[in-house]
Amino acid sequence: MKTNQTSFKKRGVDYKVPDIMLTLPREYYQSEGIYREELEKIFCKRWLLACREEEIPKPGDFITIPVGDESIILVRDKNGKMQAHFNVCRHRGTRLCETEKGRFASGSIQCPYHAWQYDLTGRLRAAPLMKEVPGFEKEEYGLFPAHVGLWGGFVFINLAEKPAPFEEEMGALLTRFEDWQLPELRIAHKIEYTLNCNWKLILQNYQECYHCPGVHPLLSQLTPFRNAVHDCFEGAVIGGYMELTEKRGSMTMDGQAAAPPVCNVSGDNLQRVHYYSVYPNLLLSPHPDFVLYHRIRSLAYDKIQNDCYFLLHPDVINQPKMMQRFQSAIEFWDMTNRQDWQVCEQMQQGLKSHRFKRGRYSGQEDILYALDKEGLRALGHKLPE
Ligand code: FES
Ligand SMILES: [Fe+2]
Repeated sequence: MKTNQTSFKKRGVDYKVPDIMLTLPREYYQSEGIYREELEKIFCKRWLLACREEEIPKPGDFITIPVGDESIILVRDKNGKMQAHFNVCRHRGTRLCETEKGRFASGSIQCPYHAWQYDLTGRLRAAPLMKEVPGFEKEEYGLFPAHVGLWGGFVFINLAEKPAPFEEEMGALLTRFEDWQLPELRIAHKIEYTLNCNWKLILQNYQECYHCPGVHPLLSQLTPFRNAVHDCFEGAVIGGYMELTEKRGSMTMDGQAAAPPVCNVSGDNLQRVHYYSVYPNLLLSPHPDFVLYHRIRSLAYDKIQNDCYFLLHPDVINQPKMMQRFQSAIEFWDMTNRQDWQVCEQMQQGLKSHRFKRGRYSGQEDILYALDKEGLRALGHKLPE
């Protein structure tokens, strides 16, 4: 069936959107079965944001990352290289490490059960008494590797045996924010949120500002929702930017910049706030004066851990007066985040109703329709349009 399309203008740009854009059926937010499929076909196949490089600064430092029932150890080896291993012993399958972060001070990862020992690159170093076992080759029992991708000081992991190449998947991002010199930036602040909603609701919420006039009165003054431009419509990286109304403005309680422009940011970017989602768990927002990002960890079909980070240049972080001023950005985003979380959690509740089958997107939400399609493609599901 041919879908009719309507053109409309956003910021002078012609957009063509299908006349009928239906939302996903409610089961995609409420079903344990579909969630299990998403874990297998999306979270265990796609590139996931794990952390910033600075969070694993020295050889031996590690964090563990839950991905559904899986757990990954991300560790810096003795040569400073980032290594990712499945957190499971090759002897009889014991989880090796239960702590969220720490340091393998001895330079090895030891199983708590029968003391098999792995080096930080994952090679099996010692396995008590296994020499006596005929045909046992230590080389064959290294930790299962996961893949690591590095960009802009961010560390990504991929649990698939043969993932799509990192550079291909992230292509739209790689040179986009060079003026921010992302590797130079450091975490200035972090806010942790636990939310009772499906992970997709957060991605959707982030990619439309149809809700802004009602939900975010202050944000709507600083960046009116009709000032939104999308310039990445397909694939893992989707997003665009919004124009600030104030000259040298930013997303703060008084609308003024919270810090000097980041590194080499200049020209149009001094007036823009960017919003890119990197499917499925990073929301990245370079502002003129700081970078904000969210790392989403899905814990259940109706529960996520969403950590919001603020990045600044160390020259700003090291000046208490500047950091005092920066509180205005933190306060603004904490308030705005909570406004969003409230509606996302209410949507999760509403979607429990069996009377609701599928809703209908507005022309402002075409990007959500694209996001839904990305998810359906990954799951191999076909829905009537
Ligand atoms: S299960 Fe790890 S050493 Fe036995
Ligand atoms: Fe919002």
